[in-house]
Amino acid sequence: MHITDSIVYIGVNDHDIDLFEGQYDVDGISYNSYVILDEKTAVFDTADQRMTGAWISNLTNALEGRTPDYIVISHMEPDHSASLDAFFHNFPDTKAVGNAKTFQMADQFFPGLIPEGQRITVKENEELSLGSHTLVFCMAPMVHWPEVMVTYEKAEQVLFSADAFGRFGALPEQKGKPDILAEYKDGSWDAEARRYYLNIVGKYGAQAQGLLKKASALEIKRILPLHGPALSGDLSHYINCYQLWSSYTAEKQGVLIAFAGVYGHTAAAADALAEKLREKGVEVLVLDLARTDPAEALAQAFVYDRLVAAATTYDAGIYPTMEEFLIHLKGKAYQNRRVGIIENGTWAPMSGKLMKAYFEGMKNIELLEPMVTIKSALNEESEAALSSLADALSK
Ligand SMILES: Cc1cc2nc3c(=O)[nH]c(=O)nc-3n(C[C@H](O)[C@H](O)[C@H](O)COP(=O)(O)O)c2cc1C
Ligand SMILES: [Fe+2]
Ligand SMILES: [Fe+2]
Repeated sequence: MHITDSIVYIGVNDHDIDLFEGQYDVDGISYNSYVILDEKTAVFDTADQRMTGAWISNLTNALEGRTPDYIVISHMEPDHSASLDAFFHNFPDTKAVGNAKTFQMADQFFPGLIPEGQRITVKENEELSLGSHTLVFCMAPMVHWPEVMVTYEKAEQVLFSADAFGRFGALPEQKGKPDILAEYKDGSWDAEARRYYLNIVGKYGAQAQGLLKKASALEIKRILPLHGPALSGDLSHYINCYQLWSSYTAEKQGVLIAFAGVYGHTAAAADALAEKLREKGVEVLVLDLARTDPAEALAQAFVYDRLVAAATTYDAGIYPTMEEFLIHLKGKAYQNRRVGIIENGTWAPMSGKLMKAYFEGMKNIELLEPMVTIKSALNEESEAALSSLADALSK
């Protein structure tokens, strides 16, 4: 599928994947790949091994008998690099373009695959001319791995953005082929792009900010990411999303109450708190962590500016679904939020203290008083504490 006269989309949809990166529930995923046809031809990235055959076929069709001069390796993560061996099997003389770290990783994943004489090792701002198109390479370490680089093409003002600006979900299709130019109207891009960014890249906000800063110096007409749709037209909405997400800034004023319990008493406390907050005009979302996709729960924690973690004590620890949630929050550098805690326990409540320790290990978290302790079920005393917590949350 042509994106412009010279830029062809050769990516593939993977509808059968059950878990992306071994843990994320997705409604399919696209592995995007592109070819620029000029005096010289350049291929951008490959596809997951699950889709090698379809990708090679798209590539071969796009080339119309030509042999690619270059393959640019933006990212060595196997969802984009796994078909490199199939590529070199088909095109043994093509030159690979990467940075020093790219080739180090290529040697680890594919010992002996890329001959020394076929490596073009690029540094920040180095250029490669294809004829009327000129590629400028720009390092984007840790967005999402250390070797990641993005490429700006000057003539058409296109940014090949690697994982940045990616989105979960297979692309819509036309005649069985993924439509990279599909429009996601009325904010329909956001939820799966947010869930993707925060879960996949989330820990590296500072590095994503670095990339945004570099990108702001460029005139960009179109962003071509490695997953999800091409972005064009008014890019400010997407850039604004990335500004918020990568700076750990809340999108909404409101409280996420995430709860985890066994017999419904912790859930009842979560609902009671939600009711008290709504009476005060506060926007509230209540999530049962056992019945919410963990990646979505994490994304929602970043959406709101306040969080309440409510969990029962379980074998003298934190109920596992809550502990898992906290591990992911910490892993993705959750920060800059106000947090309340509700614990429950029937003989020795412990979950509050343990949850508190997680939040104390995070940056710029203001823990709100009181921590509410429920012994089995809400009573007058714990109801009163909930009201005080609602006051603290709504201040
Ligand atoms: C397997 C299991 C282990 C538990 N371990 C503890 C514990 O170590 N300390 C404690 O105070 N309560 C423990 N409890 C009791 C829970 O905290 C109890 O379910 C809770 O107080 C009631 O809230 P819920 O209805 O939200 O589950 C345990 C419950 C279960 C089912
Ligand atoms: Fe990646
Ligand atoms: Fe990726």
